[in-house]
Amino acid sequence: MKGLTIHKTEHPKAKPAKGAKLGFGAVFTDHMMLMNWDKGQGWHDARIVPYGNIELSPAATVLHYAQETFEGMKAYRADDGRVLLFRPEENFKRMNISNERLCIPQLDVDFCVESLKELVMLDADWIPEQEASSLYIRPMIIGNEAKLGVKEADSYIYAVLLSPSGPYYESGLKPVPIYVEENFVRAVRGGTGFAKTGGNYASSMRAQEIAHEKGYSQVLWLDGVERKYIGEVGAMNIFFVVDGEVITPELDGSILSGITRKSMIQVLRDKGYKVTERRIAIQEIADAYDAGKLTEIFGTGTAAVISPVGELKWGDKVMKINNGEIGPISAYAYKTLTDIQWGRAKGPEGWSVEIGHI
Ligand code: PLP
Ligand code: COI
Repeated sequence: MKGLTIHKTEHPKAKPAKGAKLGFGAVFTDHMMLMNWDKGQGWHDARIVPYGNIELSPAATVLHYAQETFEGMKAYRADDGRVLLFRPEENFKRMNISNERLCIPQLDVDFCVESLKELVMLDADWIPEQEASSLYIRPMIIGNEAKLGVKEADSYIYAVLLSPSGPYYESGLKPVPIYVEENFVRAVRGGTGFAKTGGNYASSMRAQEIAHEKGYSQVLWLDGVERKYIGEVGAMNIFFVVDGEVITPELDGSILSGITRKSMIQVLRDKGYKVTERRIAIQEIADAYDAGKLTEIFGTGTAAVISPVGELKWGDKVMKINNGEIGPISAYAYKTLTDIQWGRAKGPEGWSVEIGHI
C-alpha cells in the first residue's frame, strides 16, 4: 500500500492455544502500526512493525495532561474463513471528532481503514476461533511533545494494537448487575463525554472500583449537573424497554455516540420496534419498574456487544429485570448484531466489510 512500510517480525510469538479462555485485551499480536505527526510535516512514516514498547520522553504531553484519543473495534473470523470488520470508517470518523475536542490533528479516514486492513491481514492467524471471540483493535493517538507547558503538543504518535479477546464481561451473555452512580460524575455538557479519550475513563475508575466492591459489574452514570438523567455505562450505551417501547438517552454531548448504539437503533426500527432517543430520568425508570412496565435493559458496545442488565441498583432500590434472564428484544439485538458481525447474515449495505480470507 502506498505510504505504508511493513517490517515483519523475525520472532513470531506463540499464539493462545485453540480453545483457551481468552480474557479481554491482555495478549497482543506480532505486529502493530505506528505513524507520527510533526508540526510542519503532518502525518508521516506510517509503518507496520513488530509489536513492542515505544519510547517516550517522560515529559511527553500525554503523560502529564492526558492529551490522547482512542478507538475500539474488532475483526471477526467467519466460519468459512472470511475476515470481516464492522463499519470501520465510523470509528475513524469518530476518532476525528474526539481529535478535534482534544486538539489532536485530523486523520485521513481512508488511509486509516486501508492500513488497518493490511495490519489485520498480516496478523489474521491471531483472530481467535472460540465462540464469541474476536480480534480487538485498539487505535490510539498520544501527544508526544517533551514540554511541560499546558498546550497542545507539536508531535503525536498514532498506534494500532491488536488483541485476541473473549467476551468483555466474564459472565459472557449472562445479565450483568449495574449500580447507578450518585456521587461521582463522568461528564457534563461542554466537557469531553462525547469524545473517546483516556481522561474520561481515568475519572470513572474510582466509582467502578466501589461498584465492584459491592458486587456490581459497572456503573450507570447520571448527568453531571442535576444527577437525574441517565447517561451511559462505563464502556457501553444503555437501552431500556418500557411498555414495549425501546428508549435510549439522546446524544447530548455528554455520552459517547456508540457505533453499536447507532446500529441497534436501526436494526430494531427495521424490525418494527418503536425506538426513541430522548432524555430519560432515573426516576422514570424506577416508576416504570414499580408499574411492571420495565421489561428489559441492555447495554451496547464494541467490547460489550449486547449485554443484558439483570439488576439495576439505585440508592436503596434494587430493580430485578426480567428475573435476571435475557429478554426477547435483547436476545434479538444480540443475535442480529453478532450474525452480521460474524458473517452469518447479511446486514445493511457497508456494515460488514470483508478484508480477506484465512
Ligand atoms: N460508551 C462508552 C463510554 C464506551 O467506552 C463505549 C465503547 O466503545 C461505548 C459507549 C460504546 O461505543 P461503541 O458501540 O462504538 O463501541
Ligand atoms: C470498546 O467497546 O471498544 C471500548 O473501547 C470499551 C472499553 C474497553 C473502554
